[in-house]
Amino acid sequence: MSYDLVIIGGGPGGYNCAIRAGQLGLKTAIIESRGKLGGTCLNVGCIPSKALLHASEYFEAATKTFPSMGVKLSGVELDLPQMMKQKEDAVDGLTKGVEFLMRKNKVDYLKGFGTITGKGRVEVAGSDGAKQTLETRNIVIATGSEPTPLPGINIDEERVVSSTGALSLKQVPGKLIVVGAGVIGLELGSVWRRLGAEVTVVEFLDKITPTVDTEIATAFQKILKKQGVKFELGHKVTGVQESGAGLQVTIEPAKGGQARTLDADVVLVAIGRRPFTKGLGLDSIGIKTDARGFIPHDGHLKAGEGVYVLGDATTGAMLAHKAEEEGIAIAQMIAGQWGHVNYDVIPNVIYTYPEVATVGKTEEELKAAGIEYKVGKFQFMANSRARTNHETDGLVKVLEEVATKKVIGVHMVGVGVGEMIGEICVAMEFGASAEDIARTCHAHPTMAEAIREAAKGVDGWVMQS
Ligand code: FAD
Ligand code: NAI
Repeated sequence: MSYDLVIIGGGPGGYNCAIRAGQLGLKTAIIESRGKLGGTCLNVGCIPSKALLHASEYFEAATKTFPSMGVKLSGVELDLPQMMKQKEDAVDGLTKGVEFLMRKNKVDYLKGFGTITGKGRVEVAGSDGAKQTLETRNIVIATGSEPTPLPGINIDEERVVSSTGALSLKQVPGKLIVVGAGVIGLELGSVWRRLGAEVTVVEFLDKITPTVDTEIATAFQKILKKQGVKFELGHKVTGVQESGAGLQVTIEPAKGGQARTLDADVVLVAIGRRPFTKGLGLDSIGIKTDARGFIPHDGHLKAGEGVYVLGDATTGAMLAHKAEEEGIAIAQMIAGQWGHVNYDVIPNVIYTYPEVATVGKTEEELKAAGIEYKVGKFQFMANSRARTNHETDGLVKVLEEVATKKVIGVHMVGVGVGEMIGEICVAMEFGASAEDIARTCHAHPTMAEAIREAAKGVDGWVMQS
């Protein structure tokens, strides 16, 4: 059997590449070893985490917010098995939907593990042990990533868990220690705090969410603290010991100093993810990974002759929509069309309450690069919809490059900002200035008016505060 492209890995990068290739009339196969399409994102990532974030947000609102809104409830209780079931229903529906999309676009879906055995050859080992070899003009590596382990700490996915275990705990832990104040730690920490856990986050660096603009990260941390999350910044976890029915977590200042222990029922290790390339057969085509295990590419997603790479397996943000963009670009390039990813406009959302949404350069990055910029800011406290909804935490910050008069970064923390960032991405793709946004009529009363006000702030004419 000879293909135009064989995609190894059925995550958002791989399956979107397959759909686009199918649309373009390319003979396409996709190989996936986990038994279900959708990759990390649909099975143990974006989707189940958002299902739990959404449901736990309702639970907390019912107990904490409804009474102040004049809605009296009694007998509110957590039904954790049902909360988990609705999460699994969401995952199930979506993974089956992806399988349907493969059929619709005439993509062959092979269940099994793919290994490259030479130029244009991929061997598939099925779960039943049967092997077959596919011949192809192009190979697309879309094998994704896995949690980075913490040396010396055994992840049993019951009491010491990665994100995968933390998405399926059977009961609410009394005390949850989260290692790493990144996206996973804060999203899943939020879920379990809302459901009743006492959450302490241990972070190696002196700030949470290190890649987020510092002003936004600081405001975000303050909000999380107010919600009851405890932080041990500038600390590392050096050991986890069993102690009766619980666990004892040893932490030390990152810069050295006295060790302390913290009690925990569950420890979530969320210190990043690493590319997954085990058993892929890269040697057979002379491809080497970089020092951190990523497969490098030439700037156009080519890792070698007739070999492309995308998503978490290669460099750049480890995000589903970044993988999707790359998948589309690869399919188009193989079909002889234009393929392009604008890495300057990849949004980033942390789906906590409130959310954090960012795109483009941070102030720290602009300063380090010596790029002259102007800033406009607006606090949600002064936005009429935020005040009406009693959701006033947070702010919007718009950064404009002086030389080009183009918006170069937007950073927000606030309720619903994850949906609002789309407006900014469109504006940035069209090369908008802050004035373009400021002179665009926004519906009133909406939270998005805060973006317009912050954009006005770039040229010094904020009107609502
Ligand atoms: P993956 O989704 O990892 O898919 C790779 C697939 O390849 C896997 O299914 C794997 O089984 C398969 N595979 C690997 N090797 C082989 C082989 N040799 N043969 C056959 N199959 C193979 N990103 C967001 O943008 N938004 C979010 O809200 C978000 N939330 C997340 C929450 C959590 C808890 C986690 C862990 C991640 C989250 N992410 C989120 C990140 C997102 O899941 C990843 O960036 C995305 O899934 C990467 O897509 P991918 O296609 O590169 O790889
Ligand atoms: P992360 O890179 O976001 O955060 C890891 C944190 O752990 C960092 O703050 C880092 O300084 C800290 N850390 C590293 N080693 C440590 C140690 N030994 N002790 C204490 N702290 C330590 O990684 P995370 O949260 O595991 O997420 C992995 C990836 O998944 C992210 O890169 C993100 O792109 C993706 N993701 C995206 C989501 C979204 O878009 N909403 C949601 C969840 C994950």
